[in-house]
Amino acid sequence: MPIASWNSRFLTGIEIIDIQHEALFETVNTLADAVKVNNASPRVGGYLEMLATQTQEHFTTEERFLTESRNRQLRSHLEEHRALNTKLQELQTRHNHGGLVSADVALFFAEWFAHHLAEVDMANGGSNGKPEPAPGA
Ligand SMILES: [Fe+2]
Ligand SMILES: [Fe+2]
Repeated sequence: MPIASWNSRFLTGIEIIDIQHEALFETVNTLADAVKVNNASPRVGGYLEMLATQTQEHFTTEERFLTESRNRQLRSHLEEHRALNTKLQELQTRHNHGGLVSADVALFFAEWFAHHLAEVDMANGGSNGKPEPAPGA
């Protein structure tokens, strides 16, 4: 069973965002499988890099929607994105210096994305691209 299981409750209704989210889940599962088979394999570093690239592309896309819709939770949302980017960079640096990626790391990403999509991306307009009503409206 995949550690990151895709669920329709994650759907935002914006095709590009939904495609990116689902692709992120697939990459987390691919990383988890590679770690399980052999966490010393160079494939693990490749999947970690793929996850970092996809995450960066996704955050750039989503932040554009959030900014255009004047999302009121923009600052805290961006802070969560930055924190994950930092974590990914640290892991890549550690891996590039011979550190091994553990199963816990793949599980961390699965849980982070499930939580972030359900609780942050979907909250208060999330990334659905619709302008939020003005306060008091
Ligand atoms: Fe987000
Ligand atoms: Fe997202």
